Amino acid sequence: MNNPIQSSKGRILTGHRPTGPRHVGHLVGTIDYWVRLQNIYECFFLIADLHVLTTDNEHPQHIQNNIIEVLADWLAAGIDPDRATLVLQSAIPAHSQLSLLFSMLVTVARMSRIPTYKEQVKELHLQPSLGLLTYPILQTADILIYKTNAVPVGEDQLPHIELTREVARRFNQVYGATLPEPEPLLSATPRLPGTDNRTMHTSYGNAIYLRETPEETAQKVMNMYTDPTRTHPTDPGHVEGNPVFAYLDAFDPDREGVEDIKERYRLGKVGDVTVKRHLADVLNQHLAPLRQRRQAIIARPGELRDLLRAGTERARPFAEANLYEIQAKMGLNPTL
Ligand code: TRP
Repeated sequence: MNNPIQSSKGRILTGHRPTGPRHVGHLVGTIDYWVRLQNIYECFFLIADLHVLTTDNEHPQHIQNNIIEVLADWLAAGIDPDRATLVLQSAIPAHSQLSLLFSMLVTVARMSRIPTYKEQVKELHLQPSLGLLTYPILQTADILIYKTNAVPVGEDQLPHIELTREVARRFNQVYGATLPEPEPLLSATPRLPGTDNRTMHTSYGNAIYLRETPEETAQKVMNMYTDPTRTHPTDPGHVEGNPVFAYLDAFDPDREGVEDIKERYRLGKVGDVTVKRHLADVLNQHLAPLRQRRQAIIARPGELRDLLRAGTERARPFAEANLYEIQAKMGLNPTL
């Protein structure tokens, strides 16, 4: 097949659902990693707007706004639209069409056993939509429609990559070698906890956003969960499982300084307030250039839309060609 987008190093695809502005957990866990991968791979970064609807379809006015917020964060963090292809999922119907075809290759029982689905069902307190059940099949289509070789994801997404590999294998068995079995790429960076030490999550109110002001960030840092066993600055403190130190590990460039603060914290020679003030400075300094870029970017939302449109148009013929190939192998001929 004629592939308009060539690369010798292999192709990756990954993405986010546009659920709102990105937080520092997204930055250290995923976006920083994607930025590095841009030098090695041909990259597709997907705005998975259809996936938003699987759990929230009652706030249509949010989606468009969140697409702009996510794009602004990505670009400010170093995603480069000249090197990577930005794709809007819903604007390429071939994604949904391929999802329908792949849904024929997987049993309902297999889908209902996927851990992310089971967790969501427990959390939702309402009847899951059929779309939620097929969420990972749509993701499989997102990945395989570009014949992707590798998918950078967080650990929580591994079951979806496993499904993707199964679908590719099954397809190849039945219809002949067509699709790669993509490898998951896990970033080495440990996951950053939220300010309350739970998983950082938009809906938990425990996230530090890239778009915040330094004052807002400092406020959140000062209210951060620390060592609950410590009531006085002179009590010996615990560094492990303490989010303040997880953040210093992630953001403080002065490694020796961090080890020194940790040692003094363990010995009860430095108080929480001092450590938090330091962390707030470190975090705000780290984010300052990104925030400056973001302000300039978000001031021109039209340009963001243009970049997304350009990437989507670049991806479209490739997605459509691969869809046709798959349709033909499955015995369909939609062009008659
Ligand atoms: N499920 C992913 C998430 O919530 C988003 C996503 C959609 C994705 N399609 C994808 C990630 C394809 C990687 C590849 O984070």
